[in-house]
Amino acid sequence: MCGIVGYIGQREAQPILINGLKKLEYRGYDSAGIAVYENGEIRLEKSVGRLSNLEKKLEKSPMKGSIGIGHTRWATHGRPSDMNSHPHMDERQQFAVVHNGIIENFLEIKEELLKKGVTFKSETDTEVIAHLLADLYDGDLVSTVQKAVARMEGAYALGIININEPDKLVAVRLASPLVVGLGENENFIASDIPALIEHTRDVYILNDGEMAVITADRVQLMSTTGELIERTPFHVEWDVETADKGGYDHYMLKEIHEQPRAYRETLNNRIDHENQRVDLSKEIHLSEDEIRAIEKIHIVACGTAYHAGLVGKYVIENLVRIPVEVDVASEYRYRNPIITPNTLVMVISQSGETADTLAALREAQKLGAKVLAITNVNGSSVARDADEVLLTHAGPEIAVASTKAYTAQLITIYLWGLYLAQIRETQSEEVIRQYIQALSQLPTQVEKLLEFAPTMKQFAERYAHYEDLFFIGRSLDYAVSLEGSLKLKEISYIHSEAYPAGELKHGTLALITNDVPVIALATQEDVYEKMVSNIKEVNAREAYILGITLEGNEEGLSKSVNEVIAIPRTLPLLTPALSVIPLQLLAYYAALARGNDVDKPRNLAKSVTVE
Ligand code: F6R
Repeated sequence: MCGIVGYIGQREAQPILINGLKKLEYRGYDSAGIAVYENGEIRLEKSVGRLSNLEKKLEKSPMKGSIGIGHTRWATHGRPSDMNSHPHMDERQQFAVVHNGIIENFLEIKEELLKKGVTFKSETDTEVIAHLLADLYDGDLVSTVQKAVARMEGAYALGIININEPDKLVAVRLASPLVVGLGENENFIASDIPALIEHTRDVYILNDGEMAVITADRVQLMSTTGELIERTPFHVEWDVETADKGGYDHYMLKEIHEQPRAYRETLNNRIDHENQRVDLSKEIHLSEDEIRAIEKIHIVACGTAYHAGLVGKYVIENLVRIPVEVDVASEYRYRNPIITPNTLVMVISQSGETADTLAALREAQKLGAKVLAITNVNGSSVARDADEVLLTHAGPEIAVASTKAYTAQLITIYLWGLYLAQIRETQSEEVIRQYIQALSQLPTQVEKLLEFAPTMKQFAERYAHYEDLFFIGRSLDYAVSLEGSLKLKEISYIHSEAYPAGELKHGTLALITNDVPVIALATQEDVYEKMVSNIKEVNAREAYILGITLEGNEEGLSKSVNEVIAIPRTLPLLTPALSVIPLQLLAYYAALARGNDVDKPRNLAKSVTVE
């Protein structure tokens, strides 16, 4: 976890580093720091808490220098504190290091250094790197870094400067993201592209085991064992505004409202309108025979992406009749999954950098599976390591709580399911045509749903003071309930649980009282009557109920619930792409009503690059 930045050039480094860190706060924000080479020494300033605390410290005495590194932290080793914040330096203040990742063998290295008399100031694994560099220093920054890296196990993206070579910045990557931005007489490093695009759109994306030796006018890529690497820079198409708030109070609200566009862009160029077919042949390289041979699918992901995977199980099993298992990535690699020669593993990840998902991907490949990734970030580790990639075109997602990435994942899953169904001929042309039409209508239906925002705000304000809440639903409504519950928990801090409505009576109903509101999803016609019975069960326990159903059913349902909202009708498998929208709005407005920091909920970070 954490975000790192670095600058070398002719301008003052401090404002560039601070602005870069602002764009990376989604990766962690419990402390921040920068180190700048100033008048023959490396000056360090760091502060626990938000970046604004660091800015306040710097106001009194800004740093003057044009090479520096910076860090925004999400604590792994050592609690958030000034001392544990990065950058870290060695005892003689020769090296400054910023690090994203975990050095797994840091204790072993620390023991060795302690025996040599080194004094440590922090509880972090990163400080070990600074002392190790000082211990191994041979007068040359690059070869010293290579020797140090050879000793380190784990995951790291590093930015390193050294007092004796103030014209050089070294960046190293193993299993944590790192990009190098190429400017004119200046160069940059960052954990992620949004931190760079106000300065340059030309970047090198470092691969595992690679390093960059960066001066103001040159970037030399090499392996960490010293072999030089030639690579064409990657040109980034996003503009700065795309990564900005665009007039909304929060990124999350902006991203909720961007969903119609995200749906359209994810569908774009993937439908052959003339023949009413889904066409993924430009992106998927599996042959039709290979697709016909698939016997089993495993979907592996974390958090919200896992919830998209649960919808994926219904979609693929119903459209294609291939058995699908869905796993949380952090469990998958340890459960010894059964992968047969015709098992396809699908990983879903917005960031494409989630360590658990990446580890599961590699485990699946090791066991012989082909891996198809659904990800939002082209060039991410997941996108590069997977055998097949389908991009979700949601655009950059900044808010920690995922919204548009989730729905773009659903759209991609629908396209993939239909593509499989076409090739395996499990659905008639007429059914495929119906799905294509229904998919094309979704963006407009979402626009209509977004008009409910003021109503959802009122509901949310009514719910905001409760401490416990239940979401219930059957089949796909249960999968969406899980996502609604996660969204509410993570930003409003209201405890909530999602339950399959029919399961409630087997124990959990005991928790339902007039103090525990229930949000009941009833959008699936085949289980509608059963769902209404379950709603009546909670109604009888005096719970305050918000029902979410399909247009036309609201009057009937209003007899059993206190409030009802109706979503536009679509094909049953597609309803999650609509029913989740009011739940996202509910979570947003509940968090707002409770005065929480919506975009940066406590204890969380956007991109979870530790296992
Ligand atoms: C919740 C949320 C997380 C992520 C999870 C996986 O709103 O965003 O649960 O879905 O950390 O992240 P990605 O999709 O980047 O792999």
